[in-house]
Amino acid sequence: MKIKEHINQIINDALIKTSIELDSVSVTEATKVEFGDYQFNGIMPLAKILKRNPRDIATEVISSIKTNGAIVKVEVAGPGFINIWLNDEWLSSQASTLLADERLGITTKENPTRVVVDYSGPNMAKQMHVGHLRSTIIGDTLANLLTFLGDEVIRQNHIGDWGTQFGMLIAFLEELEDQSGSENLRDLEQFYKDAKGRFDVETDFATRAREYVVKIQGGDEHCLQLWKQFIDISLGHCEEIYEKLAINLSRDDVRAESFYNDRLPLVVEHLDKMGKIEVSDGAKCIFIEGDEVPTIVQKGDGGYLYATTDLAALWYRSEVLGAKRISYVVDARQAGHFKQVFHIAKESGLVDKDVLLEHVAFGTMMDKSGKPFKTRDGGTVKLADLLDEAVIRAKDAITAKDEYDTESLDELAHIVGIGAVKYSDLSINRESNYIFDWDKMLSLEGNTSLYQQYAYARIMSIFKKYDGTIGNEIKIGDEVEHRLVLLLIRFEDILQKAAKDASPHQITTYLYSVTTLFMRFYESNPILKDGIDEATRGSRLAIASLTAKTIKRGLSILGIGVVDKI
Ligand code: ARG
Repeated sequence: MKIKEHINQIINDALIKTSIELDSVSVTEATKVEFGDYQFNGIMPLAKILKRNPRDIATEVISSIKTNGAIVKVEVAGPGFINIWLNDEWLSSQASTLLADERLGITTKENPTRVVVDYSGPNMAKQMHVGHLRSTIIGDTLANLLTFLGDEVIRQNHIGDWGTQFGMLIAFLEELEDQSGSENLRDLEQFYKDAKGRFDVETDFATRAREYVVKIQGGDEHCLQLWKQFIDISLGHCEEIYEKLAINLSRDDVRAESFYNDRLPLVVEHLDKMGKIEVSDGAKCIFIEGDEVPTIVQKGDGGYLYATTDLAALWYRSEVLGAKRISYVVDARQAGHFKQVFHIAKESGLVDKDVLLEHVAFGTMMDKSGKPFKTRDGGTVKLADLLDEAVIRAKDAITAKDEYDTESLDELAHIVGIGAVKYSDLSINRESNYIFDWDKMLSLEGNTSLYQQYAYARIMSIFKKYDGTIGNEIKIGDEVEHRLVLLLIRFEDILQKAAKDASPHQITTYLYSVTTLFMRFYESNPILKDGIDEATRGSRLAIASLTAKTIKRGLSILGIGVVDKI
């Protein structure tokens, strides 16, 4: 439920009764227990305007607040804050309702927004690298989250499949054809190096490679056939990674750079018509006030650029796909690029003014010593190897190994290992650089997926030991239950905010508080111990159940699974 909105409404009603009108009322979570559950601090600016004492106004307002529903107590504090305490009975009944609902009371939007989430975007000429890993993980979570909240999400994988390097690559592939090109393409990095080696020293090969570029662009059957084959194999490698990571991207979501080829001249024509283009050194450029370097949309030789393709994609997404929010989950180092193309797209009318364009930027992945993530010999880390290692390491971290047969242990290790890779990436503010640290991500302590999965499994083991049925009836009995239940009810508020800010780490931070508080609750409020009356036990079981369901749902939005024993 949207609990904050509910409290805001109550405060707003009280303000209106006191003949005060505010544009928007927004309570905040109290920072300390002694301040209650929520605080309202909108009185002070108002008092300035009204030239009245803020405490007087606050006192007047609280006399109009009903304290028999959600709110049980209100107090004026400090220079004119209003502190708000929520009612245990009301919270209990809300929580019981949430528990009975499969979506935990989380509503879906009445007016969904059509959102394009552009993520992953590997380049077909190269091995997928750690930067794409981050984009894939963060983007998939964002798409899951928006889908769950009811938006119409269109996932788009903007793969790099066009450019001069493909001439060289397909010329090389052609030669290898008889000796099974696809086997050679297993290691794309090596394939690229070998092709480049030939290109650099053999004039004949280099000439053919250049001819092939022209031929693909001109639609030559044979070359296009080779190119398609190359892309198919390369994309297949990426799909192996998606599969390992349980990422929701399929071939249908691929709108490669080449997809926009036909639109590129139209984009330039349109920009020209709008008077945006200046020719500089033969290249068609767009100068934006305040920017030192212009955006080049067409080179002197007629070739188009990354920016031109992105302008065409923006146009397509807005006009054909009808998107009202377009989110680009791309490395922070491309911030300048997106700032420019967003600006040009809006100014030139390629995209309507009311469309939200956002660069969901993320930082670089670093190793423990703070250097960009590389293999020991300085090469790029292969994602497939990295993910395999995660699974191997996860096996070591599982304490209940003996309770599993080999096959189920493999499955479990997969859930734990991949979960750890995803969670640790998602759990930091995405804009920060991210330090990849095996020990930390597979630790049982701290803000990790393993900690979440353990908490979930612990609840499942309580349920297993209990032989009655677990009901939905929650009755808050003390302070820790009050805090835990209130936190669980806030789930929807957290998800909505995380969706608005495109910020998955708000979800992990929340889940971490839930689990930590649950552990405290579980320590102080035993569930199965003898001598506890049935109503109390029933309520504690229900609180544990709501906790487990919240963890499970939260992790599932992050694309992470849970297990019953770990
Ligand atoms: N292929 C690009 C890269 O590796 C990422 C694509 C991001 N999406 C976009 N529409 N530009 O840097």
